[in-house]
Amino acid sequence: MNESRWTIAQALMRGRTQIEAAVPDTPLLDAQLLLMHVLGCDRTTLFTWPEHMLTPVQADSYFALVARRIDGHPVAHLTGLREFWSLPLAVNPSTLIPRPDTEVLVAQALEKVERPDATVLELGTGTGAIALALQSEQPNWEITAVDYVEDAVALARQNAQSLGFSQVNILQSDWFSAIPRNHRFHLIVSNPPYLASDDVHLKQGDVRFEPHSALVAEDSGLADLIHIARESRDFLTEGGWLMLEHGAEQGSELREVLQKLGYVQIYTALDYANLERVTCARFAES
Ligand SMILES: C[S@@+](CC[C@H](N)C(=O)[O-])C[C@H]1O[C@@H](n2cnc3c(N)ncnc32)[C@H](O)[C@@H]1O
Repeated sequence: MNESRWTIAQALMRGRTQIEAAVPDTPLLDAQLLLMHVLGCDRTTLFTWPEHMLTPVQADSYFALVARRIDGHPVAHLTGLREFWSLPLAVNPSTLIPRPDTEVLVAQALEKVERPDATVLELGTGTGAIALALQSEQPNWEITAVDYVEDAVALARQNAQSLGFSQVNILQSDWFSAIPRNHRFHLIVSNPPYLASDDVHLKQGDVRFEPHSALVAEDSGLADLIHIARESRDFLTEGGWLMLEHGAEQGSELREVLQKLGYVQIYTALDYANLERVTCARFAES
């Protein structure tokens, strides 16, 4: 029980200091997001009313979340929310917390696919981030999104519903297994698991709290990328685009694989840190 009274400014200062000692990346932002969640307010309110007193219940809830953040829990799991492409998405431990770098894939898709009536398939949709971002920009695209994990499918459907994109067709599927063999897509996108099982990142930060089903693939992380590249040829229209997010070191190997599989116009887009992140290619019937 927290007996003392806190203003917004004092609570932020204390939360920031406590978080900084354990998780030094973005302590002030973390404290702000946790307090906004408890108060049900936006960031402007925090800046406008720094002298506003928290109730004891609000202070207790906030400092309980700060304590869990100090234990390493991702802020997005504590608030249940992460913004992607300006869309507020519900998140939970069943899948990946959407990353800003994945917006590079969305931007490439919107730039390269000009048809207003494109058919689109997203493989491994998780929260639905990519599919819903695309639908928000292209309301007439016919988008199907799949995930293998039942709870992720439920989460993506919940996000589609709450954001008003219930026309997105969200299915449980082991990659292409639930997609009829005669369906063809102008665009296939995926951010599949691509970490090797011994990748050091698995033991760091938020990643420790995310499921291996969303992160790890065999063959040094390349197995799912290669499987999707191979199978997509049976589901793309002539000239259709395949766009794959991958690890910063996997670009050259993936480009080589795509070339051997007969894809053309292969290139890799860089992420916000100037690292190779999204490889794109067009299917050409041989
Ligand atoms: C890296 S996460 C990407 C989630 C989301 N698209 C994003 O970018 O934030 C990979 C997703 O692929 C899903 N996945 C893993 N294996 C799969 C499979 N065999 N078939 C379909 N989805 C799969 C995972 O459950 C997870 O949601």
